[in-house]
Amino acid sequence: MAESTEPPFGLLAELTHRCPLHCAYCSNPLELVRRNEELSTDTWRRVFDEARELGVLQVHLSGGEPLARPDLPRLVEHASGLGMYVNLVTSGLALTEEVATDLVARGLDHVQLSVQDADRANADLLAGTRAHDRKLVAAEVVRRSGLPLTVNVVLHKANLDHVGGIIELAEQLGADRLELANTQYYGWALRNRAALLPTRAQLASAAPIVRAAQQRLADRMEIVYVVADYHEAHPKPCMHGWGSRQLTVAPDGAVLPCPAASVIDGLPIENVQHRPLAEIWYDSASFNAYRDTDWMREPCRSCARRELDFGGCRCQAFQLTGDAAATDPVCSLSPDHGLVRTILARDADQPDRPALVPRSVAR
Ligand code: SF4
Ligand code: FES
Repeated sequence: MAESTEPPFGLLAELTHRCPLHCAYCSNPLELVRRNEELSTDTWRRVFDEARELGVLQVHLSGGEPLARPDLPRLVEHASGLGMYVNLVTSGLALTEEVATDLVARGLDHVQLSVQDADRANADLLAGTRAHDRKLVAAEVVRRSGLPLTVNVVLHKANLDHVGGIIELAEQLGADRLELANTQYYGWALRNRAALLPTRAQLASAAPIVRAAQQRLADRMEIVYVVADYHEAHPKPCMHGWGSRQLTVAPDGAVLPCPAASVIDGLPIENVQHRPLAEIWYDSASFNAYRDTDWMREPCRSCARRELDFGGCRCQAFQLTGDAAATDPVCSLSPDHGLVRTILARDADQPDRPALVPRSVAR
């Protein structure tokens, strides 16, 4: 265990991979956990107990769609009873007034609602089902409940041109926060990368619209813009560093340093059914594999940005180079940066794109 290791701040609890939507940009793994492999209510309660004891202050109940778990109210109550801030990350489709009232009574603190676009037809096409109008109803339910609302929109080629309308929609919905997150290419999204990558021109048009809205709405709605990192000179500071602030527990109890980490071949992934969370956080080979900076090679090792971006994303490095300890090829200093340039030239800048493949679902 590294002496400097701090306790985690947040737990991403992926309660289930089941989901009513079929988003082509889904970052969950290609192989989803099935219902009969999901952790039981009692095991999740124990996970929350161990997380709180470890120092976790925020729990994000996510999936898939966490409302697909009938025990969600009991899990909210348990996490809240431990004094954790409880955030529900949802598609909103099953978020009725009755459900919201019950969750608020049990201690829910915040809702993050996904929206696919401002344009109904396109949003439904992207969700793979008629979802948009039900999401507008869910946003109104959250607003009436008095809970703070974050609207999350994943951006890509098929909706980036509508970013102005998306901002207007979030304003109308009374969102406190809007996350405009360019697609990250993991899991199912990686499979659709050639269809999803925005063009340079789209990104250039969107940037001033977002900046102007950030200024105009500064006192009403926070707008967070997650950049399209394939197009940037430096990578994103993924997870604020591996094993640094947050841990993920997958629906089957796998404990992951980041939600995509199962993609890294050979990473010895632990399971909360077999080992306490604290031991996994501090002592496991998986959490210590890329913690801090000792694992870095050049050019990261001697780079002035190594504690700003932590060498980028380990999963992306693995996906693009086959080596999770490589500098993220998104970085213009990476010896593998040509891979990203080739992908952009081959896919993003071409007029003819493959069609989006809708997400297959877990049973
Ligand atoms: Fe970040 Fe490494 Fe690139 Fe430096 S060389 S900017 S630390 S990814
Ligand atoms: Fe795994 Fe970035 S998504 S480290």
